[in-house]
Amino acid sequence: MTKIAAPINDVLQEAAALIKAGEVVAFPTETVYGLGADATNAKAVAKIFAAKGRPSFNPLISHGFDQAQLEEEGIFDSRARALADQFWPGPLTMILPKHPRARICDLTRAGLETVALRVPDHAVALKLIETCGVPLAAPSANRSGTLSPTSPHHVAASLADAVPPVPLILAGGACAVGLESTVIDLTGREVVILRAGAISAEDIEQYLDESVTYELTPTEAPRSPGQLLRHYAPGIPMRLQAVDVAADEALLAFGPLKFMGIKGGGHARDLPPHQIRNLSEGGDLLEAAANFFAYLRDLDQPEFSKIAVMDIPAIGIGIAINERLSRAAKAGE
Ligand code: TXA
Ligand code: MG
Repeated sequence: MTKIAAPINDVLQEAAALIKAGEVVAFPTETVYGLGADATNAKAVAKIFAAKGRPSFNPLISHGFDQAQLEEEGIFDSRARALADQFWPGPLTMILPKHPRARICDLTRAGLETVALRVPDHAVALKLIETCGVPLAAPSANRSGTLSPTSPHHVAASLADAVPPVPLILAGGACAVGLESTVIDLTGREVVILRAGAISAEDIEQYLDESVTYELTPTEAPRSPGQLLRHYAPGIPMRLQAVDVAADEALLAFGPLKFMGIKGGGHARDLPPHQIRNLSEGGDLLEAAANFFAYLRDLDQPEFSKIAVMDIPAIGIGIAINERLSRAAKAGE
């Protein structure tokens, strides 16, 4: 059951408790309603993708309470500082290199070495983030491929039957901006707008000594901005749907290893620990999604000829895992 409640203090405390316990909560921002989870907790972030039915792991924006909190997650250069001073809180998301001690998890970043950060301009969102004490990963609070929600009723209509369920929607009225934030990439020499929003290139140029260009997704509906991104690609080839493993391959396992043999003799459970990762011994797809990027990275070592990946059922969030696997496999070809 999804509860819709006005964000009085008790309800905000309940929302923060849910988020600390690894649940998702829908909350208002000035742009659109977000489906939030602890950005540092991969298992919680996996629930966002599952509840939205999102067919791929696009990287998510992490929402901070203030610039100081986000300076611990991304590396701010002088341009980023100037823009944060000017536009935060507000509908501007900055892509920055990940801070070496960032707590934002791999799944939130979709395995990238960059982070997407913003401070929303909404009292309820800020209070929630402050109470949680961690940045909140939050895409729009709607089923994937449907319109973004700008009222609590839109959220309820879109996500009432979500699996896993959304336990709480903070009802903060209609969103003032109503369009997702402007996304700018500050990781390169040039400043590029990846998603248009309320803040334009001209607005941004006023505070920088350089010009800002647009690099938007070709028109398409629904918009799928993540597809243009460079995705995490392992340095060694991958072999999907593996039913056995070679002695010089790493094994990305899923579920029980009962029938996994090593080619030429032996059982997969006898592989040295650094050569095998099991996404979920119990076959739990949410757990697998939460572990996915970190485990793939662990096994991406030049000493192995390939990463052999066991079959992962393409149901629920398993669809997103398989989509990422086939992209990663293609990238390495
Ligand atoms: O207004 C908004 O931004 C709303 C509210 C809830 O804050 N959130 C939102 O999040 O629209 P989402 O996840 O739907 O959009 C995130 C956008 C996508 O276009 C994604 O591809 C891009 O940001 N993005 C996130 N991380 C990125 C990264 N590391 N590099 C490049 N693009 C990234
Ligand atoms: Mg969206």
